[in-house]
Amino acid sequence: MLNIEAEIKTLGTQILEEAQKQTPSIFNKNWWNGKILEYCMKHKAFKLEMFRFVDVFPALHTDDQIKKHIEEYFNRPGLRVPTVLQLGILAAQGITSGLALAALKKNIHNMAKIFIAGENPEDALNNLKKLWNEGVAFTTDLLGEKAVSEREASAHQAHYLELLDTLVQETKKWPSNTTLENTHEGSIPRVNISIKISALYSQLNPLDFEESIATLKNRLRPLFQKALTHNVTLYLDMEHYALKDLTLTLFKSLLEEKEFASFAHAGIVLQAYLKETEDDLKNLISWCEKQNKKIYVRLVKGAYWDHENIHAKLYNWPVPVFSKKESSDANYEKLAILLLKNSHLIRPAFASHNVRSIAHALVYAQTLDLPKNAVEVQMLYGMAEPIKKVLVNMGYRVRDYTPIGELIPGMAYLVRRLLENTSNESFLRQSFVDAESLDKLLKEPELGVTE
Ligand code: 2OP
Repeated sequence: MLNIEAEIKTLGTQILEEAQKQTPSIFNKNWWNGKILEYCMKHKAFKLEMFRFVDVFPALHTDDQIKKHIEEYFNRPGLRVPTVLQLGILAAQGITSGLALAALKKNIHNMAKIFIAGENPEDALNNLKKLWNEGVAFTTDLLGEKAVSEREASAHQAHYLELLDTLVQETKKWPSNTTLENTHEGSIPRVNISIKISALYSQLNPLDFEESIATLKNRLRPLFQKALTHNVTLYLDMEHYALKDLTLTLFKSLLEEKEFASFAHAGIVLQAYLKETEDDLKNLISWCEKQNKKIYVRLVKGAYWDHENIHAKLYNWPVPVFSKKESSDANYEKLAILLLKNSHLIRPAFASHNVRSIAHALVYAQTLDLPKNAVEVQMLYGMAEPIKKVLVNMGYRVRDYTPIGELIPGMAYLVRRLLENTSNESFLRQSFVDAESLDKLLKEPELGVTE
């Protein structure tokens, strides 16, 4: 019998010690973004203005608009700005040349490029292929969420259909990779996509449940059909809590349709920060049993924590997420065990940059005698590269969540990444910037007593 905690510490230490020999690109202080993020981590007031500016930036069309916003956000009494931004601010005030402003624009675009694989599928293909050659698979997301018109929503569906065609065609030319293309039960598709339902229906409303489901089924059916005929894995992403039940119902309802009875590559995402997820997972497992269906489940911590807190408090509703980060981490481990114990029904993917969470899942899989390729580790494009490298070298299947699209539809995604990377509680920050001890980084998380 393995001593699980000891094994987690051993594996976690092995991964972290090797990974810490390098710096993830987002924290590279030789680059503009690394310097800006470092400053954001030290100065809260600046961080707030910087992220407000980044958020609004793609909507600013002229230099005058940009200058006005720089003035408004950064020219505040008492606000200190980092040296790398000072020239841009002087340019906004007309004190130095417009070149500094052009450089600032370029820097923000470059920052986005760290997290976004390309502006369009053709553009992104080089990066996807590069990843593949480095031993990393992908799941592609077309940037966009919360469609505001039906024209936009239906264009988004069309873009996804085109994306599927492009990826299926192009990836055929790639060399084979046994680790990335097989589980212990057989082969899995090369092409893997992730879809946010809020981008597919502008009138999406959980209070109009039936209508929302019906419309979304119509929008998703062609995508599921294409995924089925072209052997593609298709995940439905999980977004805000308000859409959670709807997303789960939609997923099951589509898969219950006769034409999808043989579709073996559909997946859904579960968020460990939600208190309800354990029940949702148990229900999902029963459903798989009843339907005699195997599905993919990506387990994440959840990327909308701030939103869920603010939203619930605004309406005086119970907060659906755990208040403490450590509680979400503890719940993640509990859910990981449930997933692994049900791997006859579920193909689990552990999506996290937290080495403790990953090591826990990998060690637990071993205790169940599951081979390495029965599990998958997923991370975000542009983040935690040193950790991915170590896992690839250890022979694990690693998949990047790779967004494709332009800055405007990608802004919400970019801001989520900036917030999480600069948060005090970010595992990556604690590992690669704050140099926390291995003991602390790999400590077993506990569910807070006040949750
Ligand atoms: C997000 O969009 C990665 O799906 C996650 O933040």
